[in-house]
Amino acid sequence: MNINDSVLLISGANRGIGKALAFQALARGAKVYAGARDPSTVRIPGAIAVQLDVNDESSVAHAARDLTDVTVLVNNAGIGHPGGFLDPNGVEEARVQMETNYFGVLRLTRAFAPTLISHGGGAIVNVLSIATWLHGPPLSVYTSTKTAAWALTNALRQELKAHGTQVVGVHVGFVDTDLTRGLEVPKVQPQDVAKAALDGLEDGLDEVLVDEVTRQAKQSLSTARPIYLTGLEIIRATA
Ligand SMILES: NC(=O)c1ccc[n+]([C@@H]2O[C@H](COP(=O)([O-])OP(=O)(O)OC[C@H]3O[C@@H](n4cnc5c(N)ncnc54)[C@H](OP(=O)(O)O)[C@@H]3O)[C@@H](O)[C@H]2O)c1
Repeated sequence: MNINDSVLLISGANRGIGKALAFQALARGAKVYAGARDPSTVRIPGAIAVQLDVNDESSVAHAARDLTDVTVLVNNAGIGHPGGFLDPNGVEEARVQMETNYFGVLRLTRAFAPTLISHGGGAIVNVLSIATWLHGPPLSVYTSTKTAAWALTNALRQELKAHGTQVVGVHVGFVDTDLTRGLEVPKVQPQDVAKAALDGLEDGLDEVLVDEVTRQAKQSLSTARPIYLTGLEIIRATA
C-alpha cells in the first residue's frame, strides 16, 4: 500500500491518535478526510473535515455516499471509561463502550467496504490496544470492547481477503492523549503510534505492535502465564 496516492478517512481525527494519523498521512502525500462528530473542531491544515459520528447510522451513510474515493479506512474513534462489570452501571457501560468501540467499527467498515473494493481492495486500519489481551480493573469494560474489536478485525481480514483488502490491527500500550489523562503510567506519543501504523500499512502488515510493552504482552500469549492471567506484573518483572 502506497500512502502517497491513497485517500484516507480517519474517524475521530480531531484530537489524539486520530489527529496524529492525519498529520502523518498528509506528510506522506495522502489526501485525508478528517472525520469528527463536530467538524468545526478539526484543525489540520490540508485535511478535509467531514461530519462523522460512528454511532449514528445516518451520519455514516452520508459519509459513505459522499466520500467515494476513499481507499484507506482508519477506524480510530473510541471511548475509554474506567469501570468494572460489577459496578452499579456495569451493563449500561458495557453497552455504551461496545457501541462505539465495536459496533462503530462494524458500522463504518460495512459502509465503506464496497468503496474500498471498488478501488481494488484498499485497506482498513483498526486502532486496537494492549487492552486486547490485558483485562481487569481499572478498565475492565473498556478492555473487553477492545478484545471484541480485535476479533472483529481478524474476521474482517478473512472475509475481505478475496477482495484484496489489507486489514491492519494496531496494538499499543498507554498513549499520551485525553483518554489517559490522569493516569500516572509510562505513555508513548500519538505521533509514534501514527508513524508505526502507517509504516505497517505501507509494509503490507496485518498487525502492528507499536511499543515494547505490547510486544511483550503478545509474546506472553504463547506462555503458560499469559498477560491476561498475570496482568502487567509479568512484564514489569522481566523488564
Ligand atoms: N490513549 C491510549 O492510551 C490508547 C491506547 C490504545 C488504544 N487507544 C485507542 O486509540 C483510539 C483513539 O484514542 P485516543 O487516545 O486518541 O483518545 P481521545 O484523545 O480521547 O480521542 C478519541 C477520539 O474519538 C472520537 N470519538 C469518540 N466517540 C466517537 C463517535 N461516536 N463518533 C466519532 N468519533 C468519536 C473523539 O471525538 P470527540 O472529540 O467528538 O469526542 C476523539 O476524536 C481509540 O480507539 C482508543 O481506544 C488509545
